[in-house]
Amino acid sequence: MIPSDNVQYLDKNFWEKRYTNNDNNHVTREWLGDYSLFCDYFRQNVSKSLSILILGCGNSLLSEQLFQDGYENIHNIDISSTVIKTMSEHCDKCKQMKWSTMDCRRLDFIDETFDVVIEKATLDVFLVQEKSSWNISNEALQSLRPIGHEIYRVLRKNSGQFFSITFSAPHFRHPLFGKMFDNNLKIKNIEQLGNEFHFFLYHLTNDPSIRESVSCFQYEPPIQIDIKNDGQVFRTSLFWSHDFDNFYVEFLSFFKSEIN
Ligand SMILES: C[S@@+](CC[C@H](N)C(=O)[O-])C[C@H]1O[C@@H](n2cnc3c(N)ncnc32)[C@H](O)[C@@H]1O
Repeated sequence: MIPSDNVQYLDKNFWEKRYTNNDNNHVTREWLGDYSLFCDYFRQNVSKSLSILILGCGNSLLSEQLFQDGYENIHNIDISSTVIKTMSEHCDKCKQMKWSTMDCRRLDFIDETFDVVIEKATLDVFLVQEKSSWNISNEALQSLRPIGHEIYRVLRKNSGQFFSITFSAPHFRHPLFGKMFDNNLKIKNIEQLGNEFHFFLYHLTNDPSIRESVSCFQYEPPIQIDIKNDGQVFRTSLFWSHDFDNFYVEFLSFFKSEIN
């Protein structure tokens, strides 16, 4: 089920319907990529005993793969009660794993509940209407700030870690995180993932001893290209990425590139 308009990704009912219809016969579906792409980095940075919250878990296998890797203290949340039911049944062998229907803008956890928060392609949902990644609208920022506040609040003070996996490149995501978290979380590292189609893992922390590792991302605005396919327009930006020494194509509306 692909929406006629990106705005539907912001609608809880869209996700509910999509998961009720079994996500076009995909019992599970992985946005961007799976755990195998960043498991080495994750293992080096997160000890197995830590408590993990996954925001907008969807029908991804991420939590199951983490569990199989020895991370057993995991709580998954999603706005869709259907996907929470389906995935909790799918993962019934992961005994201690927890599942809750919850909105990531209003987390029903007390302060400092988790050591680690992970999101994969969930924050991107709140940016689907953006016309330019270079100038995030005030509306999008206002929708992301409560999530930033909640992530910061539920993370353990001075040692909390936040992992965000997204298509969005550092020169877009770095300033956005600054505004979203009021600079309370610092970027410890960024890993580029994927082969031909790149995406990124952002590792942030509230550990005061960590200095932001990303100094500055200044770029010329990119060339914008509209690719038409089957009556749909994919707006993309093409630019040189100094960080990764490569040409980089940013899919401003990558959700439109979903393949059924
Ligand atoms: C693009 S999918 C990503 C799913 C999964 N994280 C993955 O990597 O495959 C976005 C997910 O966020 C969920 N979602 C959307 N809005 C949400 C909200 N306000 N709170 C919690 N989850 C939300 C959707 O139901 C959907 O499962």
